[in-house]
Amino acid sequence: MDDPYAPARDALDGDGLAGGAADSDPAVLAARLDADDPLSAFADRYHVPDDGLYMDGNSLGPASDAAIASLDRVVDEWRERLISGWTDADPPWFEVGERLGDALAPLVGADPSEVVVGNSITVNIHTLIGTFLDELLAGNGPEREGVAAADGTWAPGGEPGGDPAVLVNELDFPSDHYAIRAQLRQRGIDPDEKLRVVESSDGRTIDPRDVEAALAAHDDVGIVFMPTALYRSGQLFDVERIADAAHAAGAFAGFDAAHSAGAVPHAFGDAGVDFAVWCTYKYLNAGPGSIGALFVADRHHGLTPALTGWWGHEKATQFEMNMTYTPADSAGAWQIGTPPLLAAAPLEGSVELLREAGIERLRAKSLALTDFLIALVDDRLPEVSVGTPREHAARGGHVALEHPDAERLSRALTDRGAVVDFRPPNVVRVCPAAPYTSFADVLAVVDEIEAILDSGAHESYATGEGGVT
Ligand SMILES: Cc1ncc(COP(=O)(O)O)c(C=O)c1O
Repeated sequence: MDDPYAPARDALDGDGLAGGAADSDPAVLAARLDADDPLSAFADRYHVPDDGLYMDGNSLGPASDAAIASLDRVVDEWRERLISGWTDADPPWFEVGERLGDALAPLVGADPSEVVVGNSITVNIHTLIGTFLDELLAGNGPEREGVAAADGTWAPGGEPGGDPAVLVNELDFPSDHYAIRAQLRQRGIDPDEKLRVVESSDGRTIDPRDVEAALAAHDDVGIVFMPTALYRSGQLFDVERIADAAHAAGAFAGFDAAHSAGAVPHAFGDAGVDFAVWCTYKYLNAGPGSIGALFVADRHHGLTPALTGWWGHEKATQFEMNMTYTPADSAGAWQIGTPPLLAAAPLEGSVELLREAGIERLRAKSLALTDFLIALVDDRLPEVSVGTPREHAARGGHVALEHPDAERLSRALTDRGAVVDFRPPNVVRVCPAAPYTSFADVLAVVDEIEAILDSGAHESYATGEGGVT
């Protein structure tokens, strides 16, 4: 079949929704896109409300039959096998981290040995930033032209004894900065000086040229740590470009892929990424507080993690209980303690479902859904602006709608059964996630926004109540 989603792109690229005669009615266009959508049947396998619109899968993905089945299986094994489940369950619990890492590896373009599940994003940032800071402090870093200590080791400005800096950006998720600052502090490095922050020129996005300029301006950067997609605007970064710039400047390249893993195909191996972290509760749909995941490039296997624990020990000898730690020769070394089986089990089913749909097809549909959403907003919501880049290469899985009354608008929408979320100061995030969202759903959410703004229904809501949304 030709590209079944082309009409959505044309609506955005061309004359808007009023362009083609047959499709000038958005409901007709949505119906046509849904009828031709090869992924439409997947929605029945997710638990999203029949009488509502769930547009918040970028915060918490929904349950699926497959995820619940793999969770139920582990609960049964616990009930029936007790402790022997670690070795005798099918498959054994003991290798859950590696096994689920293998399942995730194709979604991020990695070798199975380079991905493991364990811990949470924040903990994984602690251990990975710590690991690579230790490498730099030991003089081991990517080679950079013209700057090295006399003995050839990595040293800021070529002066041994200098402290490495970490380059981040001002639109990052705050937890990332908290963790990196703590890791710098623990090594006696002043984070106010050495956490270098790239500023945003528009408050929404980060220009890769500003990352490159920061690297050119400072010769002490040892780690570039960036998101693959920004949590607020949804800007998607060019991972390879950032990794190349980092390496050319003698820095490691690490990424927080929370807002793209499971929605956008990645090629971490080919892009030269050194390490990455992500969660499994957003686009990977493994449930609230589900286990974290990480990537460490093969060339770094064998390093001693900053946060060592027995679950990262070489598997074959873990139960010999040696006091000396031997790291697993894989990303598995960055596991720490016993994996939370019940927070990992749903991932098995949820990833199987995504792999059945195919990450490339999911991405194609996601772009079409967000094309359609943006085209509708352009056409029908003059008071709302789109804060997400329009180019496909720079757009993740959600769309940031900016409105001065975004918080009240978000509350009014959610009360009417269209679940979205608000991010200060002025963003309503709308996430039409590809596995379970239809084009008709996208139209319905825009209808709701239009109805609320036209009637002023949002004005009766309070602001500033905070809470998790
Ligand atoms: C981009 C990003 N990084 C980090 C985190 C923190 O993740 P965790 O609470 O799993 O450590 C989140 C949470 O939503 C996030 O969106």
